[in-house]
Amino acid sequence: MTANKKLFLVSTVSFTVLLNIATASAYVEELDDRFKNTRRADEIWLIEFYAPWCTFCQQLDPVWYEIGAELKSMGSPISVGKVDADVHRSLAKEFRVTDYPAIKLWKDDLKYNYRGPRTKEAIMDFADRVSGPVVRALPSQQLFQNVMSRHDVLFVYVGGTSDLKEKYFSAAKELIVHTYFFSATRHILPKAVTLEEYPAVVVFKEGTYFLYNEQQDGELVSWINRERFLSYLTFDSYTLYAMGDTGKVVVMAVLDEKKPTKDSIRYKTLMQRAATEYKDFYSREFQFGHMDGNLYINGIIMDELAMPAIIALNMSNDGYFLPPNKVETMEQLVKFLDAVSKGRIRLQGGNGYLQRIKRMVFNTRTTVTTILTEAPLLGALLFFVFGFVGSTFCFVLYKSCEMVRSRMREEREEAEALQSPGRDKNTETRKNPSEKKAD
Ligand SMILES: *[C@@H]1O[C@H](CO)[C@@H](O)[C@H](O)[C@H]1NC(C)=O
Repeated sequence: MTANKKLFLVSTVSFTVLLNIATASAYVEELDDRFKNTRRADEIWLIEFYAPWCTFCQQLDPVWYEIGAELKSMGSPISVGKVDADVHRSLAKEFRVTDYPAIKLWKDDLKYNYRGPRTKEAIMDFADRVSGPVVRALPSQQLFQNVMSRHDVLFVYVGGTSDLKEKYFSAAKELIVHTYFFSATRHILPKAVTLEEYPAVVVFKEGTYFLYNEQQDGELVSWINRERFLSYLTFDSYTLYAMGDTGKVVVMAVLDEKKPTKDSIRYKTLMQRAATEYKDFYSREFQFGHMDGNLYINGIIMDELAMPAIIALNMSNDGYFLPPNKVETMEQLVKFLDAVSKGRIRLQGGNGYLQRIKRMVFNTRTTVTTILTEAPLLGALLFFVFGFVGSTFCFVLYKSCEMVRSRMREEREEAEALQSPGRDKNTETRKNPSEKKAD
């Protein structure tokens, strides 16, 4: 190939690439502080808040442009935008942005927060769910069966107009970020379902159904938060983090699924048995499951957890309980759960100020150790560079402090908002401990 031809080819290719990026990004609008006032009330917006220095944001860019293009080509009513939160701080503040990238959906007067894997599918599913009707009507048996087959956990309101219906709609408005909500008349329900009373709120899962009972179950929102998970879960950082809302203690086997051992299989089976056989007894207080790998858990307990292990975690305060003795039989597990429940085992960890600092130091140390063991030369080079540009480090430190400060402010505001009605409950701002700071 002659040099000329090569040049031609290279320029054509790069032109095509540029064109692709240009057309893809054409469906994502760059927003600024003025947006608050210019957005029309009936518009629905999916917005990413980013910062120029945040690498996770850059990784999200191609996904974000794809989402923009795809929603456009589907004729979706959702507009897609992005905001440089470092520059347009008042908009970021309005959306209570503390971590980057933050993904929000603005519909009517509500701002919904997305927390989950940053994949196109997951984000589009969220956008579709939240932008649609808060409660979806199921007008026929066929549709009911169809929806049943597609959802592991299905919330349905059965009945006509009532106080309960109003409560259901308001709960759905808040929790639509997590799950779908449906309504039906009693004639639509499968024959096997016999409800003693109408109206009713029912959850269908694991081949059976449970009725909400206000006296026993308390607030509808809390009940939905407890019931929206299957009784046994394979945890990832997102589901584990979501457990904070349930008020349940997570009891799990932590194991290396690539290297199953006799012990790890035994631990997993024990958790599965506790979830099914002891469901009535424990499901209000405990959520059972397992997690592959100890990376995330190490970050919480600030130590290396030897696998396989059994651990109980309180995700409302990042505290944890380790069994003082071996837990290998159901009897030993029951003893352990009982001790956790009655407060007879000391809670370790937590999210006090000191614990948070300790956790930051631990995570930094882990990152450094990983770099040093996996790429010693690169590590040495990095240290050299770090020493050289210490100012960068100071900047990062300053940024984290700023973030911690703004988060504390936020939590205070949230606590105050709790006392006033009509708060924007969906703008959740707690940080996912697995997501290392993007800076
Ligand atoms: C979990 O943490 C919350 C919030 O600090 C607390 O109210 C609850 O009692 C804790 N549960 C257990 C079993 O320690």
